[in-house]
Amino acid sequence: MQPSTSNTLAAGTYADPDFSRAVIDWQQSHGRHALPWQNTRDAYRIWLSEIMLQQTQVTAVIPYYQKFLLSFPDVAALAGATSEQVMSHWSGLGYYTRARNLHQCAKRVVAEHGGLFPADPGLLADLPGIGRSTAAAISAFAYGTRAAILDGNVKRVFTRVFGVDGYPGSKPVEDQLWRRAVDLLPQVGIERYTQGLMDLGATLCTRSRPDCARCPLAARCVALATDRVHLLPVRKPKKAVPQRQTSMLVVIDQGQVLLEQRPDSGIWGGLLSLPELEALAPADLDDEADGATFGQLLTQALAPFGVPASCARLTPFSHVFTHFKLQISPYEVRLSRRLDRAGQDSHVWYPVERLADAPLPAPVKKLLLELLRTEDLFAPERAA
Ligand code: ADE
Repeated sequence: MQPSTSNTLAAGTYADPDFSRAVIDWQQSHGRHALPWQNTRDAYRIWLSEIMLQQTQVTAVIPYYQKFLLSFPDVAALAGATSEQVMSHWSGLGYYTRARNLHQCAKRVVAEHGGLFPADPGLLADLPGIGRSTAAAISAFAYGTRAAILDGNVKRVFTRVFGVDGYPGSKPVEDQLWRRAVDLLPQVGIERYTQGLMDLGATLCTRSRPDCARCPLAARCVALATDRVHLLPVRKPKKAVPQRQTSMLVVIDQGQVLLEQRPDSGIWGGLLSLPELEALAPADLDDEADGATFGQLLTQALAPFGVPASCARLTPFSHVFTHFKLQISPYEVRLSRRLDRAGQDSHVWYPVERLADAPLPAPVKKLLLELLRTEDLFAPERAA
């Protein structure tokens, strides 16, 4: 029977001794056997390697690992070091939270576990910087504990072999993968099996250009059978970008354009920009929206500066910020009468010939310079 992809199945549903047998045999004949952290049961060394390997490739880790051990040969030496010493040994390896957690972890192993890393993956996972998968790897390699790993490489192997279609970072898919990881554990040979999964993910079942021809799991690989190897694992879904809308008023009078100082905080903080209206004009500029016509709202907003005589729709455009997309509907407004009321310090009439050097947001400057370039829009005689 084909295993179901439901994530509500009881433990044991995915059990399949042939799977672990294939991984173990392949590890023996084709896996990696001479990495500096292999062929030891020293939990300190295994822990150190697993932390260094969390976000870093084997080749980059090796020199750091060796130098680190020369300076800090055991957990007591590391726990007794200063944070400067630890950080300087980590310098260049990146993801420095790992180094801070490493140091804290060493101190706790000394203070709470008598300097011995616990064998129980649950206790290991309670220590700083050790997640469920790292805890299982340390426990399996150092103590032979039958515990499941599920790092990024193993997720890739599992999603392909079992044709798992959801994004593996999502809770339900991850839960399903953990259940598979647990159910597939061999009764014996956990060290070789764990290393075999890691080796498969790192050397054959790679993200790009996987070497399926050499894979010991190819015959059972759902992704290979359905030509979906390049599609799995499913990539993180892109978040929908929230959209906001605004109307920008290009109020032109006597060779000047009305600009508004933006508040220091928020988008375009501290720059000058065009005055905005939250409302958007309906298709027909005279139609009512929310009880007032766009024209009435416009008249209200511009009351301190003058009396609008005409309002023409310009081409809308959008600007993408990191967290949202702003859809901008610009309007060209002409005044019949200009008022220069006091108390409007946040607004300024800006000479059009100086716009190129004005402290404006790029899309606003683009809009204004485009208007300036294309027509005699700023010519005073156009005013109604
Ligand atoms: N990545 C994570 N753990 C590893 C290990 N023990 N050997 C090789 N690569 C790894």
